[in-house]
Amino acid sequence: MELVQSRPESCSELRAHADGGHREQCWLSRRVAIFLLIAVLVKGLLLALVLSLFNMAAPGTEQSAGDAGKAAEVAGQLSECRAELRATSLLLHRISQDWQCQLCPGGWLWSRGSCYYFSVGLQEDRRWNESAAFCQQHDAHLAVIGDHREMEVIQAQMGTYEPMAFLWVGLTDSLEEGQWMWEDGQPHQDHTLSEVQWNSEERDCADIRGDGSLFASNCEAHGPWVCEKPWNPRKPSSPASLA
Ligand SMILES: *[C@@H]1O[C@H](CO)[C@@H](O)[C@H](O)[C@H]1NC(C)=O
Repeated sequence: MELVQSRPESCSELRAHADGGHREQCWLSRRVAIFLLIAVLVKGLLLALVLSLFNMAAPGTEQSAGDAGKAAEVAGQLSECRAELRATSLLLHRISQDWQCQLCPGGWLWSRGSCYYFSVGLQEDRRWNESAAFCQQHDAHLAVIGDHREMEVIQAQMGTYEPMAFLWVGLTDSLEEGQWMWEDGQPHQDHTLSEVQWNSEERDCADIRGDGSLFASNCEAHGPWVCEKPWNPRKPSSPASLA
């Protein structure tokens, strides 16, 4: 928490401050919208439950006129609730479409606290070191796959593109043969992920395949890549940083 507020000097600083304010507002409205959505959902569930109790009550026996009336009333409330739900999801969608509300820069994908960039749209393949340099230029690094869930996220995204042979990830044994290290400095052997296959002297850079396996490849090979950066809500990000 910054206690001392510096006075904004330049125009761009002023704008950055203004953007920061907008961002906070976005957060607030997003939270409110999510809260509303949950409230409407819970209400709908309760109404549906009450309605099903009415319908289940004493099968075979005549429903009293009073019960039938109540059931109709609940059914009416339930359909109102559905309309509310539609309106609230639309609201949440609108808020999320606002670029300043977006969790990641334009073109980056948010998942579990990280922003990912898949180079696929660039139609351009690079060596491993060039891919790593690209990520660095965007305040990121080649993806460090920390666990199976992260692997699944990346695999799922790979599946949405045209058949893709592989993606460079931030794993290399170029410092010491056979000692695979992730870009965050973690040795691969500490991970529960599968072994790097096809390792040899000339294959020092790792790629991920669509089935979630990791392969050693020649670092000079050209391919697409995936960058990752921690998502930081406080740091303003430009929507057109990749344009
Ligand atoms: C990547 O490696 C190649 C040769 O292996 C070298 O020519 C090139 O300058 C390197 N690029 C970067 C960005 O490090």
